[in-house]
Amino acid sequence: VKNQKKLVVANWKMNPAGPGEARKIFSAVRRVSGLLKRTKVVVCPPAVYSSLFKIDRKNKKLALGVQNIFGQLSGPFTGEIGVQMAKNVGAEFAIVGHSERRVLGETDAVIAQKAAMAVEWGLNAIVCIGEKSRDQNGDYFGFLKTEIQSALSLVKKKFLGQVIVAYEPIWAIGKSFKDAMQPREVHEMAIFIKKVLSDSFGKEWIHGVAILYGGSVNYENAGLIVKDGQIDGLLVGRESLSPEGFKEILKAVDAV
Ligand code: PGA
Repeated sequence: VKNQKKLVVANWKMNPAGPGEARKIFSAVRRVSGLLKRTKVVVCPPAVYSSLFKIDRKNKKLALGVQNIFGQLSGPFTGEIGVQMAKNVGAEFAIVGHSERRVLGETDAVIAQKAAMAVEWGLNAIVCIGEKSRDQNGDYFGFLKTEIQSALSLVKKKFLGQVIVAYEPIWAIGKSFKDAMQPREVHEMAIFIKKVLSDSFGKEWIHGVAILYGGSVNYENAGLIVKDGQIDGLLVGRESLSPEGFKEILKAVDAV
């Protein structure tokens, strides 16, 4: 995968508390993005901050994303954000089915609707999957297969180039980098995910589907996970809020 384009997604989650700090973090990312050769950064701030950041569409190194969208276009859905709204404030990406939303009650059926809505309206859907824990029998493979197939069940083949699968084992989220998955295991999981995609859609359709890893990534493991994991990039939570830490992650990935 050397010299291929990479993608690093910053998931700010419910941070920071105000626009001043949000601007500061974003400016730092913008500065680093100017130094990147083959890595694109996607910043996903809380939606209330989306309009703070003006992004030049010609800049291929920096893009805006949202952390969630709704599965309907508009209407009486208090508190939700539609895909057109996200697009109209400059978002090109949408995280769909993050595990932190799934625990709040988002079902596979809801996630399937969101993924289809995102790609049909021209957004890139970052579809999150990941097992809660691992068992000796390897039952988590079956679980993941169902998650992938179900999340993409309403996505038409022609939109697969806009699909990004983010593999985030829940047991590895929000920990120390030592608890993150090892690069070799990430590689195994990437192969598995591609196999499931290929069985579902046909090998010739899935070349455009990027695969990311997420879960306790920092500057110490970022480069190796992408390189030895042979994946397309990362989804970064906590460390994406630290300008210094995130800069090192981006540099490490860009050097792969
Ligand atoms: P983390 O979060 O990098 O803080 O582990 C990743 C995520 O939940 O997307």
